[in-house]
Amino acid sequence: METGQISREVFFNQEIFDLEMQNLFPRAWLFVGHASQIPNPGDYFSSWMGSDPVLLTRDVDGGIYVLLNSCRHRGMRVCRYDEGNTMQFTCPYHAWSYSMDGSLVNVPGDLFGVPHMKAAYSGKLEKQNWGLVRCPKVYNYKGLVFANWDENAEDFLDYAGDFHWWLDNLADAFDGTPGDTEVFHGVLKWRIKSNWKFVSENFLGDTYHGASTHASVEAIGIGPGGRGKRRHGERQDEGGHSTGRMKTSFRNGHGASDNLAYEIAYPQFVEPEMNEYFDQAWATRKERLDAEGRLLGGRGPATMFPNMSFAAGFPRSILVAHPISPTETEVWRWFLTDKKAPEHVREWLRQYYMRYGGPAGMTEQDDMENWDYATQASKGVVAQRYPYNYQQGLGTEQLSELDRAVHSNHAISGEVNARAFYRRWSEFVDNLSWDELLEIAKSDDRIDAIIRRQEEDAVAEAAA
Ligand code: FES
Ligand code: FE
Repeated sequence: METGQISREVFFNQEIFDLEMQNLFPRAWLFVGHASQIPNPGDYFSSWMGSDPVLLTRDVDGGIYVLLNSCRHRGMRVCRYDEGNTMQFTCPYHAWSYSMDGSLVNVPGDLFGVPHMKAAYSGKLEKQNWGLVRCPKVYNYKGLVFANWDENAEDFLDYAGDFHWWLDNLADAFDGTPGDTEVFHGVLKWRIKSNWKFVSENFLGDTYHGASTHASVEAIGIGPGGRGKRRHGERQDEGGHSTGRMKTSFRNGHGASDNLAYEIAYPQFVEPEMNEYFDQAWATRKERLDAEGRLLGGRGPATMFPNMSFAAGFPRSILVAHPISPTETEVWRWFLTDKKAPEHVREWLRQYYMRYGGPAGMTEQDDMENWDYATQASKGVVAQRYPYNYQQGLGTEQLSELDRAVHSNHAISGEVNARAFYRRWSEFVDNLSWDELLEIAKSDDRIDAIIRRQEEDAVAEAAA
């Protein structure tokens, strides 16, 4: 990593993929779903955590649970639907039944007197020991539900650290009301023929690709760069010029394509009623400046380590790259709106999201094609001998005011973020314990290196 090179094996090798499944996904915080998908008791949403299917559920008391979707008897998937509402999950195989918190509540043949069935367990089955496996660490951050299988893992708020500013700008309403958002019903899901890390890396800082990859959508004025397109909310100085985007990279591997927001405005719309809503939201948000005059929240695109990417600010959507194999990934996309948004704003956003993101959207297709062709052209026997280049901005990082974070020296240099991501990735894949992971993250040697470099520069300057 110090040389800014990464072996292609990381993207194609089955053994490395198996290590990711073993050592990374069961120990990192993963996005499972949004609380607004399960508003009522009995609601559930089927999701994945690495190689394991899980159920996000809400029980009668309103509690949220993440359960392994695999029967304790013979492993049958107890729920085969994407989402719904039920009193309990009854396994299709032999009909063991589980409540919404995963407790085993009924077993045919457990007791004498079950119709058409002889007593199988004579009332001796210890049901309290055979509930669905419950994920021990679940955190609902303003409606974003994360889970971690490892009881020893860092608590969620520490894991997120100052990256929470970006989560805030995803989860808070456009006017800054904390957590006042919900997802549109339905999740877009599709498969791509490339490694999951292509997706995470693209969102955590690769704005480098925008001008070339999305040239066609830029040309018609709906691209992510938003060159001169105030419709899309790019950062502008007082003269209305785009000021570019500083990258922000965290020691825990998270990365964002921007610094904290100082001057971001919401777009200007053709439709006056849209401007009415967003101008009001903008005015309210500006009243919520922090002590430094900073608008609260960081803008995306961003990736929370390891595989939750999102757009914060405007628009707002979440994208999770579920690993299927070294060269196949299932991508899920959620789209968010303010809970209080009137119908015409929701409808505008819904159409915008469909046009812009997802496999039928005009921008997402560009990225998918790159990742698929890059995979095809990279996995050959000879191709795999040659590493990828991550040398952009190497050795020119800058200090950040945020905890354990550094900035790129240049608006484009997103590979600062990618290098931090792969370093954290390797620490997980090498199966360092959580104690070791915490110890490493506490002292960010990237910051030490920047301070050393600045001191050397000052000495050289004084001598000159
Ligand atoms: Fe579920 Fe047998 S596998 S009841
Ligand atoms: Fe893109």
